[in-house]
Amino acid sequence: MFIGLDLGTSSLKAILIDDAQNVLAEHSVRLTVQRLHDGWSEQDPQSWCSAAEEALTAIAAQADCSALKGIGLSGHMHGATLIDGSDRPLRPCMLWNDTRSAAQAAKMDADPKFRAITGNIVFPGFTAPKVDWVRENEPATFAKISKILLPKDYLRLFLTGAHVSEMSDAAGTAWFDCAARDWSDDLLARCGLSRNNMPSLVEGSEKSGRLRADLAARLGIPAVVVAGGAGDNAAAGIGAGVVRDGQAFVSLGTSGVLFAANDGYRPAPETAVHTFCHACPATWHQMGVILAATDALEWLARLTGQTAAQLTSDLGPVTAPGRTLFLPYLGGERTPHNDARIRGQFLHLDHATDARAAARAVLEGVAFAFGDSAMALAATGTRIDRALALGGGAKSGHWVSLIASVLGVPLALPKAGDFGAALGAARLGQMAATGAGLEIATEPPIARTFDPDPSLADPLAQAHDRYRRAYAALKDLS
Ligand code: XUL
Repeated sequence: MFIGLDLGTSSLKAILIDDAQNVLAEHSVRLTVQRLHDGWSEQDPQSWCSAAEEALTAIAAQADCSALKGIGLSGHMHGATLIDGSDRPLRPCMLWNDTRSAAQAAKMDADPKFRAITGNIVFPGFTAPKVDWVRENEPATFAKISKILLPKDYLRLFLTGAHVSEMSDAAGTAWFDCAARDWSDDLLARCGLSRNNMPSLVEGSEKSGRLRADLAARLGIPAVVVAGGAGDNAAAGIGAGVVRDGQAFVSLGTSGVLFAANDGYRPAPETAVHTFCHACPATWHQMGVILAATDALEWLARLTGQTAAQLTSDLGPVTAPGRTLFLPYLGGERTPHNDARIRGQFLHLDHATDARAAARAVLEGVAFAFGDSAMALAATGTRIDRALALGGGAKSGHWVSLIASVLGVPLALPKAGDFGAALGAARLGQMAATGAGLEIATEPPIARTFDPDPSLADPLAQAHDRYRRAYAALKDLS
């Protein structure tokens, strides 16, 4: 038996699987995001530990965990969890979609060493510019930093007492040499830091420590091995069997991600595609990242007083887009724009625009953002012929079908929709505990495949072109 813990932005999910990877138990705990100012996005690290303890307690109540052998971790990437010498958080964690450090990021990105060593643009959401923002704006806090941990690695510290990270998540800090799979002493020094401020590194499929004996006794589960785990996207790749060149997924979570597995390191920072290590040795991946996917729909849900499920429930089959257009850039955008200043836009609202038309425009806007990411990936030479559809937003068949038509590729929907990253984490737990390898990262059974509709190709291409022109026209006005 193995447990996967996935620290998501809106909830922490735990699943228990048996040795044949059947899901035996699951439990989710809601998490909140604090947005004190425009562009800010923070979470209390303590809330992750309480949520993990609550979820593990619930799992232990649902199933006999005496045969548990390993735990794997997954988490939202790039967060800066700053801790003092007694392992206490110094401030709330600045999350992946916090874009306050745009000026610091631009300064670092202008230093060619960062792109050359990390293989990526220094995006404002990455860890390094956020810590630089703290250095400039909260110097007393910066002076007290003992270690900088990614969110799931802070959870690991709570679970095991060890300061450890792994390659896939470390790759998103902007201090990491993605080819060498190691911290870059040079880049750390440029930020007034050193390797001593960073956790040690393992591969995602290796052991990182053991569950603390006191915690294990309190939870009533064995003090098992905890695997390195992965950033949530690499973990979803392991969970969905997207591990080899040519395999891909579309993830409709709070963020939107178009993810392609690579068997070599293929950086192309000029495209704003992210190139990171995958969770198993000698594997990498690329992704286009959209900052607000279901987040954009949730925003409209709050505005209209309906739930996201209500807004998407009766949309029927996908038809050619209307004139109402939505740009989903509520907190800026990463791929392909690297633009922290742009904000969301509605265009062409008329007297007949109701919540349903607005919802359609939001789904279309996110679909076009995926189209932009696909173009950016194509510019790196990565071709996607088919992809899996993962994440909470994939519950909407309308949305998945629309994205399939915008991308012009079939999207396959797994039967057990929402387990991606948690299942990937559990599989990494299994690899670390048993020595199993990539052969256990198989594709889940497929419930349904959404094929692109050829009759929509032209109207969608025209609307996508209008979407791109709208961004170009509005970016300086936002
Ligand atoms: C990836 C990214 C997001 C987060 C949250 O670069 O920022 O996908 O990992 O899911």
